Amino acid sequence: MKKITIAIDGFSSCGKSTMAKDLAKEIGYIYIDSGAMYRAVTLYSIRHGFFEPEGIDTDSLRKHMNQIHITFQLDPETNRPQTYLNGENVEKEIRTMEVSGKVSPISAIDFVREAMVAQQQEMGKAKGIVMDGRDIGTTVFPDAELKIFVTASPEIRAQRRYEELKEKGQEASFTEILANVKERDYIDQNRAVSPLRKADDAILLDNSQMTIAQQKEWLAEQFQKVTAQ
Ligand code: DC
Repeated sequence: MKKITIAIDGFSSCGKSTMAKDLAKEIGYIYIDSGAMYRAVTLYSIRHGFFEPEGIDTDSLRKHMNQIHITFQLDPETNRPQTYLNGENVEKEIRTMEVSGKVSPISAIDFVREAMVAQQQEMGKAKGIVMDGRDIGTTVFPDAELKIFVTASPEIRAQRRYEELKEKGQEASFTEILANVKERDYIDQNRAVSPLRKADDAILLDNSQMTIAQQKEWLAEQFQKVTAQ
């Protein structure tokens, strides 16, 4: 069967990656979490001291951009994709509250986006890819055959994130997470470069009242519809 490109965009913590990952596994496609790439650049910037009291040292970050290499590898035990920054597995570090709190301004920088979009387009050249993010259907793969835009209320998303962190044994406050979710929504939707918006030809999914199993089934149906044409 001819392989297609699947773009899944939407707000933070709305379960995009869970459904994208599951679908990719089921249909034998590559899954790429584009948010992980912005998180890896953020971690690199934290480690190199680019976050200064007066803001991000963009001059230094720009000089370092060609030294930031992000790749993905499947964990042989769990079969889950792991993010590597210059060869180091940083999957855990990029999910901390510190990185979550600093990633939006990094992802709003034009030269960071240019570099990430170029890498993402390269990864999707051969099709057979499910990529999730904010600008996949609008900027990275505007010609994707299947585009989904996922949303859910901020409170529900904060609750899901809270439970996810708790499960991983990380300290978290619901109020802090909710504030972070709302702040990221605002920055993601209002940044100058590639703001978060639904592509005109994307299918809208509000999963506030859906279980993971229901979402999975819904997405599989959308895939069947497109590929049956
Ligand atoms: O999906 P996530 O929460 O891991 O994404 C982390 C941040 O990266 C989020 O603030 C938005 C940004 N992002 C982006 O700007 N473009 C993408 N394609 C993916 C994520």
